[in-house]
Amino acid sequence: MRSEALEDLFVHELEELYDAEKQIYKGLTVMAKKAADSDLKSAFSTHQKQTKDHIRRLEQSFKALNEDARRGSAPGIHGLIKQANESISRGHDPSVTDAALITSAQKIEHYEMAAYGCLRTHAGILGYKQIEELMSTTLKEEEEADKLLTGIAENSVNPHAAAAPYAQARTGKRHDGAGDSNGGKISLGTMAIGLAIGGALSLLLKSPGNPPRPQTPYPTRY
Ligand SMILES: [Fe+2]
Ligand SMILES: [Fe+2]
Repeated sequence: MRSEALEDLFVHELEELYDAEKQIYKGLTVMAKKAADSDLKSAFSTHQKQTKDHIRRLEQSFKALNEDARRGSAPGIHGLIKQANESISRGHDPSVTDAALITSAQKIEHYEMAAYGCLRTHAGILGYKQIEELMSTTLKEEEEADKLLTGIAENSVNPHAAAAPYAQARTGKRHDGAGDSNGGKISLGTMAIGLAIGGALSLLLKSPGNPPRPQTPYPTRY
């Protein structure tokens, strides 16, 4: 028996993903433009072309359901693209910007992988064989894109980013204190006061310890 509730969720998921893919298509234009690494640039351009196919497959799915291709709302993807734009506008070294681009792109790919995986499963449960196959094809492309990004990060972008100088344009304090007014250095005076307070506290809080546990050679039986 077909569940109308699941059918309703299924159409809602399709509409949400339709909006997500349209946002991603737009976002990939910016990402391809901002990428410095030539492999990364071409990976984004290739995936943008694939994204066009993803949109087309969603439209085919709507058609198979006799539904209009309606664009729902995907605030999750909107947030991830917003984060990506913020991350790449920080004025890093180009290799660090590339690392930020890969981080953002992989967050987006994982969103898509989860969404297409669920859609494929729900299509199967509802008996929509054609949609199940369409979603499966797209899911495979999302997984391949994710793997390709991992490869580019490991082989090229991350090693370069690891050797990049610290970008002064970065805003906000770093956790290691590099953004402090004295450059994160602790004066000898401060260190001496800290040690004295630490010593006094350890003397005050020193406890006699837990009394030794009575040894029972064998478990007591009742
Ligand atoms: Fe996609
Ligand atoms: Fe994708």
